This record gives sequence, C-alpha cells and structure tokens, in this order.
Amino acid sequence: MRTTIRDIQMMRDRGERIPMITAYDYTSAQIADRAGIPIILVGDSLGMVVLGHQSTVPVTLDEMIHHTRAVVRGTQKALVVGDLPFLTYTSPEQAIQSAGRMLQEAGAQAVKLEGGVHVAPIIARLVALGIPVMGHIGFTPQSVNQIGLRVQGKRANEAQQLIADALAVQEAGAFALVLELVPAELAQAITERLRIPTIGIGAGAGCSGQVQVWHDLLGLYSDFLPRHARRYAELAKTIADALSQYVHDVRNGLFPGPEHSSRIDPAELAAALSNIDQAT
Ligand code: KIV
Repeated sequence: MRTTIRDIQMMRDRGERIPMITAYDYTSAQIADRAGIPIILVGDSLGMVVLGHQSTVPVTLDEMIHHTRAVVRGTQKALVVGDLPFLTYTSPEQAIQSAGRMLQEAGAQAVKLEGGVHVAPIIARLVALGIPVMGHIGFTPQSVNQIGLRVQGKRANEAQQLIADALAVQEAGAFALVLELVPAELAQAITERLRIPTIGIGAGAGCSGQVQVWHDLLGLYSDFLPRHARRYAELAKTIADALSQYVHDVRNGLFPGPEHSSRIDPAELAAALSNIDQAT
C-alpha cells in the first residue's frame, strides 16, 4: 500500500519526523522506496542536477512528466509528489491542466507548487478537485531571478509575510508545506502555528520533516555542496574510481574475464569454421 497524505499527517501528529528526498529516475526511486523514505519528490531541481541548467526556470511540464513517470514505476510504497514547473500554474485553469497531467499521465499522487498568499486560491481550487497539494515558501527557486538565492525572512516584515503565506497555504488545503532557506527560529515558529507538517530544507531541525536533493545527499553533484546539505556518501568519487578501474581493466585485457563470457563447444566451432573455409 502506498503512503497517503493521511499517513503523512498522522506521522506529524505522532511527532514522527518525516524524511523526504528527491529522485528523478526509476533506479534511484526504487532505492529510495526500498530504503523506506515515505515521500519522494520529483523536484524541478532536476533542471540543474540532471539536465545541467543554471536554475529550475527552463524546466518544462513535459520533462517533469517524463521523469515522474519513471519515478512512479520505481516505487511501490512512497507517496510521489511531482513539482509543477515555472509558469505552469499561473491561473486556476492552467494549474488544473498541469496538475491533472501530473496525476493522470505521470501517476504522481500529489503536486508541489511554489508561493504563498498569491497562489492560495489556486491551491484551493486544486484541492477542491481532489488533487493533493504540497506548498513551498521561503526561497522559491522558480523566482530566483526576482528574489535572488538567499535566506528569506530575516527581517520582521519578511518573517511576518512568510507566516501569513504559511497560514494561507494551510487554509487553502495544502497537506504539507516546504520551507526552504528560512531561519531556523522562524521555521520552528511557523511549524508551531500550523496543523499540517512542514518539510524543511535549510530551515533547521524544528520542522516536521526534512527534504534533501538526491545528488547533494549522496555526493553526486561534486562541484557544489549547499550549506544546508550533509553528504551521506561520496558517490561521485566512488563512481570515478570504479570507472578508472574499468578503463584500466579494458586497456589491459583484464575485463571481461572467462566468467563474463559464454562458450561454444569446440567441435561446433571447428565444424562452422571448416564449412566456412570450404565455401571460400
Ligand atoms: O525541486 C526541488 O528539488 C525542491 C526541493 C528542494 C524542495 O523543490
């Protein structure tokens, strides 16, 4: 049975911290699912870590759907949340189309979208139609050109706005809220004022759960580690070492070995070769 948004709410109500991770393909999703991670986000961060863009802005809905389908195929238990990319939810009608595709074509169980008070009516419309929505406030990467890459809510007026945003997203019916790059004390204050779970990234330990980007957590995106991330593995190095060994073994005739090859009965081969030799 897949994790539901009700299960996520019950985790929060029991005081169980909620782990969430991004994944973008079948194999990674299968690993995350088997590791017992209850929520997998197909984040539009794939624009950077998978597609090599500078930001999430160029990511299209078709790309999100393509990757989300693979993640859904790789999972049996996790709740799969598909990110709605930039400019795909500018009106309730457009949001219904986009979120509808994410659920119907990609098979996600929920969508995530960025914004507070201003997107609350859009969230309310989706929720009324049976589409679970995860909100996302604080640093919202799709607005990087507007707000810059920086911690949000350090001044009283900004902090007050973020609290208003969080409440608006909750009242619109979102089942959870991502808080990205928000001071820890403010994230905790928001978490204490909400009934729904908060999922932090760069928002301290006082949130109901945490989300991390697959490549940051596993040391795959080797040139850069955001301050808020902790590497639990150094997979870029592990992979590079493995590839160097492979190159060495091929160059030196050490791969493939006999155990990697199939055999033909020598008599069969001799017969084939003699037939060929006689014909030429
Ligand atoms: O796109 C993404 O990966 C995200 C997370 C950082 C929350 O939105």
